[in-house]
Amino acid sequence: MTLSITPTCATSKALIVGLLSGAALTVLLTGLFTKVSNKKHKDQENQVNVEEHVETEIVDGVAGLIGNTPLMKIKSLSDATGCLVLGKAEFLNPGGSSKDRVALNMIQTAEEQGILKPHTGSTVFEGTVGSTGISIAMIARAKGYKAWIVMPDDQAVEKYQLLEKLGATVEKVRPVSIVDKKQFVNLARERAANFSHGEAYGYFADQFENEANFQAHYTLTGPEVYRQTGGKIDALVLGAGTGGTLSGITCYLKERVNNLKVFLADPQGSGLFNKVKYNVMYSPTEQEGNRRRHQVDTVVEGIGINRLTQNFEKGRRYIDDAFRVTDEEAIKMSRYLVREDGLFVGSSSAVNCVAAYRTAKQLGPGHVIVTLLNDSGQRHLTKFWSDEYLKAQDIYFELKPEETVHDFVK
Ligand SMILES: Cc1ncc(COP(=O)(O)O)c(C=O)c1O
Repeated sequence: MTLSITPTCATSKALIVGLLSGAALTVLLTGLFTKVSNKKHKDQENQVNVEEHVETEIVDGVAGLIGNTPLMKIKSLSDATGCLVLGKAEFLNPGGSSKDRVALNMIQTAEEQGILKPHTGSTVFEGTVGSTGISIAMIARAKGYKAWIVMPDDQAVEKYQLLEKLGATVEKVRPVSIVDKKQFVNLARERAANFSHGEAYGYFADQFENEANFQAHYTLTGPEVYRQTGGKIDALVLGAGTGGTLSGITCYLKERVNNLKVFLADPQGSGLFNKVKYNVMYSPTEQEGNRRRHQVDTVVEGIGINRLTQNFEKGRRYIDDAFRVTDEEAIKMSRYLVREDGLFVGSSSAVNCVAAYRTAKQLGPGHVIVTLLNDSGQRHLTKFWSDEYLKAQDIYFELKPEETVHDFVK
């Protein structure tokens, strides 16, 4: 007997109906499944987005507030020169200055190297004119360390007060030469060396020579300026104390921006101007018997120095030229920026702005010039911003209502 495999008409009809309904069911189910899985995916997507959103909106403690400062157009100087004069608003950092970046990176680097361990009584020592000390005191508190700050005793009083409020030990010493063992940086080094006991380590931050200072600006501030200007920048103008800011930003930008010019803004009394111009570290006001007031003979705090540091040396080969800025120019510039822009800055920012104006005049209209607004005038109320103090020191310069930047910058 042979079994027939040829379907009858009825069976083939049933088969076709079966196949069609199977296919329809498959399409329906696939559609349904896709819809459900798409919705699930969308929900997941929404959830992920929400989380990402939350993550980007919330910063982690005071350290999370550091950096990414805006780059602002300084209208008065831009209008006066036909250039775009930009100031990076470093005074918006939580500790009030660009030094927050440095303090954070120095402490973080020491932690990564296993030198500092939190909540062990370990103490960060630093010799500073104030800003770095304030930033160190803030980060130290946030991370479980103590801070011991050695400072010259001729700085604005609000800096000592801030340090004390932040819980730092403050040691004020007479300003003397770096070759003296009692100089504030030397003393901080010595205090750290004699401190360690048990788990508690005495860490000398050493901003002048510590590479983490340079790195903070090479890895953060420099890239920020590059991003914010889209790489369209003709000149960078900065003063130098440790030189970390100048070298870090300069090295990053010079590797990427063709024809970038870098100018040093140096206050009177500092030797860096002559070093850049003539390769001789010399300031006439530092001659024996000539020196009057401060470590460097200027009312300006934070920039100007009479020795070469590792952090300055890292970027020195890239500096194209230098401007010397007098106390009179810096004081008048600070008052001018308030009058014209409502911009209240400290003394080193005022020096930077005088040099930025000179750079703009030298390059001519149409150029983009970047400088830093390191800290606010609030840090300088009792010195640079005090008419009484300036009169008592015989360095009072009034900005007359009719005076413009063209009049007071030589
Ligand atoms: C207010 C202020 N501006 C500028 C600077 C100079 O920065 P740097 O030390 O990176 O040269 C300092 C340094 O202490 C400072 O305190």
